[in-house]
Amino acid sequence: MFDFAVWFKEHFPGRAQVLPVLEAFSREVRHYPGNLTGTRDGRQFAVLHLVDSLYPLVRLAEWAWSGRWLDLGSGPGLPGLPLAVVCPEMRLTLLDAREKPLTFARHFAEAHGLTHLEVRLGRAEEAGRDPALRERFDGVVVRAVDNLGVLAELGLPFLRVGGRMIAYKGKSSREEARQALHALRQLGGEVVRIEEYRLPGLPHTRSLVVVDKVAPTPDRYPRRTGVPHKRPLRG
Ligand SMILES: C[S@@+](CC[C@H](N)C(=O)[O-])C[C@H]1O[C@@H](n2cnc3c(N)ncnc32)[C@H](O)[C@@H]1O
Repeated sequence: MFDFAVWFKEHFPGRAQVLPVLEAFSREVRHYPGNLTGTRDGRQFAVLHLVDSLYPLVRLAEWAWSGRWLDLGSGPGLPGLPLAVVCPEMRLTLLDAREKPLTFARHFAEAHGLTHLEVRLGRAEEAGRDPALRERFDGVVVRAVDNLGVLAELGLPFLRVGGRMIAYKGKSSREEARQALHALRQLGGEVVRIEEYRLPGLPHTRSLVVVDKVAPTPDRYPRRTGVPHKRPLRG
């Protein structure tokens, strides 16, 4: 039977002091009115959400995991909040178009002293044009928001050249990356790595698609709210 504390201590030796915060996040998000993640069961939540969120730290352990990061379409803080709890050198902004999950995240961050975490309500299409946010981030993480071509348009505007976006994907990530090739080129991105993994006890393949920002994003992107999804950039 999967035990998150055992998994965590095995993969992050020396960081057991943050385990109570991750456990509190699991407990509080699962019991928040309105069911923010659709998962009430603690063990299931730990595998599907905590372990999944933290996987980049296992697979891309050689990275610095510091600087300014954006969690695009974060909901209550997935995957960004667990990442920032384990890596206090990350300054993290959660961005989502919905108020309710952000209210949870704001309260949680305040209650647990996560001063390196900021919460912003808004659409990526608009926030990506805000000079305080555009090309200001070292990294973007994004999970369960849209396909890679659309994410290129929503996410890459936030990154400085040399920054990187990590998209959490399922098993069709290589096909998605192939289909997004034109959009990525237009927006200044390039897929540099795909890391496949399996969550404990589950058969499905998951993947982390790493996109490097290799050139500035042209000023005309992102297009108006809804357009990137309705009319994805194609070759
Ligand atoms: C399925 S939820 C995923 C939430 C979280 N990332 C997770 O993995 O559990 C998708 C989230 O993306 C947000 N979202 C979708 N498109 C967005 C956009 N263009 N700008 C900001 N947020 C967006 C939605 O409001 C929603 O909270």
